[in-house]
Amino acid sequence: MLLKSPQELAVMDRANALVLETLRLVAAAAQPGVTTAELDELAERHIVARGGRPAFKGYKGYPGTLCTSVNDVIVHGIPDRRCVLREGDLLSLDCGVVLDGFYGDAAITVPVGTVSPEAERLVAVTRQCLEEAIAVMQPRRRLSDVGDAIQRCAEAAGFGVVRDFVGHGIGRSLHEEPQVPNVGPAGRGPELRPGLVLAIEPMINAGSPGVVIDADGWTARTEDGKLSAHFEYSVAVTENGPWVLGVEKR
Ligand code: MF3
Ligand code: CO
Repeated sequence: MLLKSPQELAVMDRANALVLETLRLVAAAAQPGVTTAELDELAERHIVARGGRPAFKGYKGYPGTLCTSVNDVIVHGIPDRRCVLREGDLLSLDCGVVLDGFYGDAAITVPVGTVSPEAERLVAVTRQCLEEAIAVMQPRRRLSDVGDAIQRCAEAAGFGVVRDFVGHGIGRSLHEEPQVPNVGPAGRGPELRPGLVLAIEPMINAGSPGVVIDADGWTARTEDGKLSAHFEYSVAVTENGPWVLGVEKR
């Protein structure tokens, strides 16, 4: 596990601030009638204009700047000019950038217009899962405490935690050690130490946790066709507790 210096964390804070700014811009544009390809172009233009580079584009052949995952798509939905957003869609947006040699990575799930009460509840619980996982990011806590917090929060609400994808360390690479499962049990794995940065990313299904992958090799859907939501922040462990990069100043 690579630990980051205060100077490196400052760069990662700027990379993640650009990711979050891009996500806010894209979320505001995610209205009925807009295509996911248009959102992708918006994101890429913004990142490049701010001196960054889209991190996902070209990663293992991935074609987009964003992942745009609609309704039963969990993650890795590919932006498409035939995919027109409709009122009531639930849209997960995942974005990564490289800025001054360091990666930022974050995701949000947003309603397109008005969504069902069950979709609203899924989004609120998934965001809560991430908040509770962030609270674990303290020196001397154990790695699996992160996933345990997520699993408890999701299952208490009656939802299913996706096991097929995990969070990850992040820094000069998009994916660094360690992997960060979204389930427990608590008390396992290495101790968390100041300077460790994890991209924590609960993917929560309204129904069962099962995943199927489309023929494109990327699009990951719920096995039962029910909704899924995804939130992600890159979070540093500090002596003073969790630092959500790109959100708060230090
Ligand atoms: N947040 C995801 C991850 O950490 C998004 C990756 S999309 C990919 O893996 F195309 F870059 F794989
Ligand atoms: Co990630």
